[in-house]
Amino acid sequence: MEGLLVEYMHCSRLISKDIFWVGANDRRLRLFENLFPLDLSYRASGVSYNSYLVVDTKTALLDTVDSAVSSQFLENVEHVLGQRSLDYLIINHLEPDHASCIKAVVERYPKVTLVGNAKTQQILSQFFSFAQPVSTLLVKEGQELELGTHCLSFIMAPMVHWPEVMVTYDKASATLFSADAFGTFGALSGHLFADEYDIQADWLNEYRRYYANIVGKYGIPVQTLLKKAANLKINTICPLHGPIWRKDLGFLLDLYGKWSSYTPETKGVLVAYSSIYGHTANAAEILTAQLVDLKVPELAVYDTSSTDVSVLVAEAFRLSHFAFLAPTYNAGLFPAMEQLLNHLQGHHWQNRTGIIVQNGSWAPAANAAMEQLLGKMKNLNILGKASILSAPNPQSALDFGNLAQRLAESLSQ
Ligand code: FEO
Repeated sequence: MEGLLVEYMHCSRLISKDIFWVGANDRRLRLFENLFPLDLSYRASGVSYNSYLVVDTKTALLDTVDSAVSSQFLENVEHVLGQRSLDYLIINHLEPDHASCIKAVVERYPKVTLVGNAKTQQILSQFFSFAQPVSTLLVKEGQELELGTHCLSFIMAPMVHWPEVMVTYDKASATLFSADAFGTFGALSGHLFADEYDIQADWLNEYRRYYANIVGKYGIPVQTLLKKAANLKINTICPLHGPIWRKDLGFLLDLYGKWSSYTPETKGVLVAYSSIYGHTANAAEILTAQLVDLKVPELAVYDTSSTDVSVLVAEAFRLSHFAFLAPTYNAGLFPAMEQLLNHLQGHHWQNRTGIIVQNGSWAPAANAAMEQLLGKMKNLNILGKASILSAPNPQSALDFGNLAQRLAESLSQ
């Protein structure tokens, strides 16, 4: 009985020959980065922190986990290593959700060599000081590290999501350890592999929300990484968050191609409105009804005050067109709409077409504020705008009909 208990003091999993998942899940964290809600999806709430261990002639751990789940992680590493020592800790990404256990690993395995690039070394010294000198190996683009059967090569991926980011490729297993790329919010429900889940039904929204909000700003660096990855034979993608991909990699790569080039996934309209007493909400409903009559393919309607902005950003990445409706507030723009547009600008959202509608009872100023914010973004085409005074009236309905017609025509092109 005692032996059985010891045997199961871990949740590590074999991925492929010599390669183990030694990560952990966190279902208690409410806000990722103290910003993004993790309880929006019934099936994929929480987050996983993936760490991988290659056990060959030499042993190599790829990244660590957040300090909140350090116990499970260290138990997993200890279980998989058994009596072996740890030779290398590959630091693909230094953000604390993956790096906060580096010190604990060094303390347990003091002979370990930390592997990273020059930028890794700089940021590592900003986060950590070690009681004893720690062995380090600085690597450059394409450099290889022989482990025995497995040979790791390092591919720099700066700004996917931080400047020190690199990804690691194992030729023997054709595995890409992809750091934040190809990750998602959502804890793993036991199964490790994407093909063990209904990704489209249960995970896709969270993949998109993660991409748009965490990596969305860095479209060009992601494209650079995709080009480098295209030169590799890849059987398995091991990201730092979410399921591991061993089948249907084209599905994920196609999404990344679209998201990183700010290309809409779907023809349709994001109708996002802010409303104080319901009149601008009513305007949004009238406009939406007209769009339905014009057989617009897809509509997604949200109140900016009751929807987390990370969801709105993800929907803006998904859809081709927008309709933003907002009241005037403090002689400017209602804060929830201002927040949305600031987030979209921060994430380099671009290449979209839409309309704007303002409300104001005595000095409407929301359209000018929205135009100014949208004007800071690349290739944002405003097809038309309308203004309502306090509440929609028959003239508003005509104005919205005009805007709806322009949106429908643009969507049909
Ligand atoms: Fe999951 Fe950029 O850290």
